[in-house]
Amino acid sequence: MIPPIPLTMTAIEISEPGGPDMLKPTRRDTPKPGSGEILIRVAAAGINRPDLLQRQGNYPPPPGASDIPGLEVAGYVAALGDDVTGWRVDDAVCALLAGGGYAEFALAPAEQCLPVPDGLSMIEAAALPETIFTCWTNLIDGGHLKSGETVLIHGGSSGIGTTGIQLAKALGAMVFVTAGSPEKCAACLTLGATLAIDYKAEDFVKAVKAATGGRGVDVVLDMVGGDYVRRNIDAMAPGGRHVSIAVLGGPEATIPIFKIMQKRLILTGSTLRARPAREKGAIAAVLRATVWPMIAAGAIKPLIHATFPLDRAADAHRALEAGDHIGKLVLTVS
Ligand SMILES: NC(=O)c1ccc[n+]([C@@H]2O[C@H](COP(=O)([O-])OP(=O)(O)OC[C@H]3O[C@@H](n4cnc5c(N)ncnc54)[C@H](OP(=O)(O)O)[C@@H]3O)[C@@H](O)[C@H]2O)c1
Repeated sequence: MIPPIPLTMTAIEISEPGGPDMLKPTRRDTPKPGSGEILIRVAAAGINRPDLLQRQGNYPPPPGASDIPGLEVAGYVAALGDDVTGWRVDDAVCALLAGGGYAEFALAPAEQCLPVPDGLSMIEAAALPETIFTCWTNLIDGGHLKSGETVLIHGGSSGIGTTGIQLAKALGAMVFVTAGSPEKCAACLTLGATLAIDYKAEDFVKAVKAATGGRGVDVVLDMVGGDYVRRNIDAMAPGGRHVSIAVLGGPEATIPIFKIMQKRLILTGSTLRARPAREKGAIAAVLRATVWPMIAAGAIKPLIHATFPLDRAADAHRALEAGDHIGKLVLTVS
């Protein structure tokens, strides 16, 4: 039997900007779906590094988005707004959100919802949307990665990295990664990377050059920025594409322009959260047609490092901040 929708729900709010202790369980009105929206009874909610930035007060939700953190969920359709087609109450669903995931119920624009892929648990499906949308749009739309090419993914053991390795490999690319320990490197190799460089022990530019006979890689997916940009350019092949998705090592870089000219490089990047639902919906449609069958075939499977109950969201943030994880952290909700 489908349970009734309660008037209020438990959610995790950011009581004020600061450390993990600022994440506090609270009661909120259960949201009601507007036109084009789906109300999801959340089974599990993925945690992403941008959630830490939002908690610290450095990444405010875009206009109209919930102030509750959480960029992805999986669960069951609880209610449909007007003009939503193709979904029924109780369908298993996962969704990319602009906020609101750390809660018992969350609203999502229908175009950002996808069926839970065959073979995935709710916990695995909750760990998927933010990384798969980000990896697809940056590796493919921005980086134009093709089968037979080489890609260097920094932060290979991160949530983004562990998805990026599997996606790029499934698309026929050869994947190189950097990661910060032998254990993280071993995990990346198990996921399908051909070369995993422990960047604390080895210069990644030299390692990439050695592995490619001096040619370099076709695409770099970069979350570090700072002086990595110059080094990435050194590690890139002629015609290479450099895609920035974060600036963990610094937001500014000095770039050797002449090398960009000599190698005919393209430097691009993107952020996902603030993009309109229409654009996220276009990515979702491609994912459903192209990547969902790969997931069903077992070629891509979210790597879950640990789960925490919703009311221990603060502990989950502490764990992500500690940086020892390999793959994703997920909140279990119902
Ligand atoms: N542009 C977009 O649309 C978009 C969307 C989602 C996420 N992101 C960004 O992508 C990055 C990865 O997200 P995630 O959720 O996968 O995070 P995560 O799991 O916490 O991963 C962060 C990774 O960065 C590596 N790292 C390298 N330099 C670092 C530094 N200076 N400080 C901290 N970590 C460093 C860490 O591993 P090592 O031990 O190997 O250093 C870790 O694997 C985040 O910066 C996030 O904001 C961007």
